[in-house]
Amino acid sequence: MTYRRNFLKRAGYTTISALLTTGFLQKDKQNENHSIDAAMANSISGNTPLRQLAAAKGKRYGTAISSDILLKEKDYANLIARECSIATPNGELKWNATEPQPGKFTFESADAIADFCRKHKMELHGHTLFWHMAKPDWVPYPPTLKMIERHVKGVMGHYRNSPVLKSWDIANEIIADNENETDNATYGLRRGVKPELIRDLFLFAASVDSSKKFYLNDFGIEGATWKSDRFLKMIEYLKNKGVKIDGAGIQSHLWFSTAYAFDEKGFKSVLKRLNDLEVKPVITELDIIIDTPLPDSIKKLDQMVADSYKRYLDLCFAAKVDTVITWGISDRHTWIRHPDWIPGKTFRDNPQLHRFLRPLPFDENMKPKLARNAIAQAFRQAVP
Ligand code: XIL
Repeated sequence: MTYRRNFLKRAGYTTISALLTTGFLQKDKQNENHSIDAAMANSISGNTPLRQLAAAKGKRYGTAISSDILLKEKDYANLIARECSIATPNGELKWNATEPQPGKFTFESADAIADFCRKHKMELHGHTLFWHMAKPDWVPYPPTLKMIERHVKGVMGHYRNSPVLKSWDIANEIIADNENETDNATYGLRRGVKPELIRDLFLFAASVDSSKKFYLNDFGIEGATWKSDRFLKMIEYLKNKGVKIDGAGIQSHLWFSTAYAFDEKGFKSVLKRLNDLEVKPVITELDIIIDTPLPDSIKKLDQMVADSYKRYLDLCFAAKVDTVITWGISDRHTWIRHPDWIPGKTFRDNPQLHRFLRPLPFDENMKPKLARNAIAQAFRQAVP
């Protein structure tokens, strides 16, 4: 697998923030209403499921789901059923899972998730038809048009009549990480990928099932960056070609650290440009890491994660974002604790720091953290 090598290349794969240095997390007067203190959090958390708080504002909250964990861990399944109104398969709909051999499709694990969603009245977001990091070895990158056509027909066709699957990440992470990794200055696509290929991918998708919402999904676009600019240009290109594209998946693997600046103004401008293009922003993979220097206690860390959630979601909701999906629900299963995906050199070199990787709203025991309360409060305060 090339995951790890590629991931390392993603250094700073997130957008990311100097909240600590910029005062973003300090409780000065200006920012007061964005942060939550423990006492307030406890008093407002109540018992109301996040899906209900979201629904009260015409919004949805959900998580990435793994089918194997769903089968094995009852508390995980119960928590998701209680809290979530939408889910994304963690890996079950990726090319290596659905078409491991040319033309031989398998949907067992993805269907298990779809069944779970149906049973618990949750929507399913299809992730993803096209991603360089989750393809079987027989598929080159980019795949040929013929391979794409067969794949799209096979996978989308299977879910055409699904009562729960309503949206697809048609393409994932097609924009290069920086200008040295593209041979296309205008759109910044990963090497070898032509804009016409992406256009045709979307066109195939529309010919199979245009009743679903179509998204372009990416990371590192949560600010005014080289990457977000290319991402927006690519959306504009698709729009100009008359291609159906309904949403922009803003992954939001956020990394709040002193090393990067959180570009609040830039992120607002990204949301505005999407609005102008009539493409809906959707938060598809939210999780939050606090980078070094780390606080001296888990309690403080959890507070920082919670404040970061609150600030980010307040900004999203002010721009009318209506769907928030976190990349997992509890720290027990977060992908960033997996050895292949430990983020950044500091964490990789210091296993004793892994306990500070607490990016999700519930802890290892499925107990709500301050981050959960921050999400609840953001939904409560959102203007419908
Ligand atoms: C990750 C999964 O969580 C891991 O379990 C898997 O091994 C690799 O992929 N961006 C995406 C997701 O679009 O599909 C990734 O999911 C996380 C980064």
